[in-house]
Amino acid sequence: MSRVRSIVRGVGSYLPKNVVTNAELAKTVDTSDEWIQQRVGIKERHIAAEGEFTSDLAVAAARAALENAGLTPDDIDLIVVATTTPDYTFPAAATLVQMKLGMHHGFAFDIQAVCSGFVYAVTTADSHIKNGLAKRALVIGAETFTRLLDWTDRTTCVLFGDGAGAMILERAELAEGEPERGIIASALRSDGHHWDKLYVDGGPSSTGTAGHVHMQGPEVFRHAVGKITDVVYATLEQSGHTVADLDWFVPHQANKRIIDGAGAKLGLPPEKVVTTVDIHANTSAASVPLALSVAVADGRIKQGDLVMLEAMGGGFTWGASLIRW
Ligand code: ACO
Repeated sequence: MSRVRSIVRGVGSYLPKNVVTNAELAKTVDTSDEWIQQRVGIKERHIAAEGEFTSDLAVAAARAALENAGLTPDDIDLIVVATTTPDYTFPAAATLVQMKLGMHHGFAFDIQAVCSGFVYAVTTADSHIKNGLAKRALVIGAETFTRLLDWTDRTTCVLFGDGAGAMILERAELAEGEPERGIIASALRSDGHHWDKLYVDGGPSSTGTAGHVHMQGPEVFRHAVGKITDVVYATLEQSGHTVADLDWFVPHQANKRIIDGAGAKLGLPPEKVVTTVDIHANTSAASVPLALSVAVADGRIKQGDLVMLEAMGGGFTWGASLIRW
């Protein structure tokens, strides 16, 4: 019997041109390069230009992924954009991406799960491919997260950056006996009781403003490593794989200490962990596809590799997805 799978056809990314180092930030807020590098492992971040919107970043990443896959927008019938920073309250950034790619066909929508957004989006696109609603999905994580920052709050403004990453998933029917490919297993979790540990104090229904990020940093840290490892184990268990089978671990890039803690708890050798938080900072839903794009472009992730994606963020939300590349 054949098995329907969502296989990866291509990845791509886009980073705004403007790079801001820790030293530059330290000129305007009471912080230091040493404090930031030591606590979170960030050296610099990209910041979107005035007039450059989330959908612009998303389209640039989408075009790069289409080129990587050798496809055109005509080949796509689903766009899912994971974002917490859409251009407008509505319509969805995904429909703007659809328009900017010149598409009139297919369907497009956003997913809001903050830093876990890309893993949620991949899992949702996979479901739509498996249930027959879509054949080829453009899954994008895109954020202009720095627009939510209070630049006088040193506890949050040093942590985040802007960017976008995209992945194209395609329906494939694997023949009997054909080795596993594509998305093998996923697990998603949330617990809204933790909403005020990491949130934005604005919104259309509460204040009518976009608001700013607030975070109980030590509380987020306390929950992160345990939740990440639990959901990775849950995903592995579904598939019959173990940590030792993984070729690559591509975690959400929030904080080097969280990534190192999760990697150590899972027993993963550091050389199997893809880390880009130093050069991208935390780009929320964009961080996982940005890290993936780097590791594909530099030749680390190759066809046949077993790759675990993982993310955790506001809500709390968290999740993981296991992919045979
Ligand atoms: N520069 C210099 N000093 C700072 C800065 C800064 N940017 N930010 C905070 N401090 C100071 C604080 O004011 C405090 O000073 P005080 O002792 O005089 O009051 C001191 O540093 C320690 O503050 P803490 O908040 O206790 O610092 P902590 O060691 O916990 O580090 C951090 C803060 C890095 C945010 C940590 O809690 C953390 O890593 N949390 C995880 C949160 C995270 O990564 N969030 C990303 C988004 S969530 C996600 O995506 C999963």
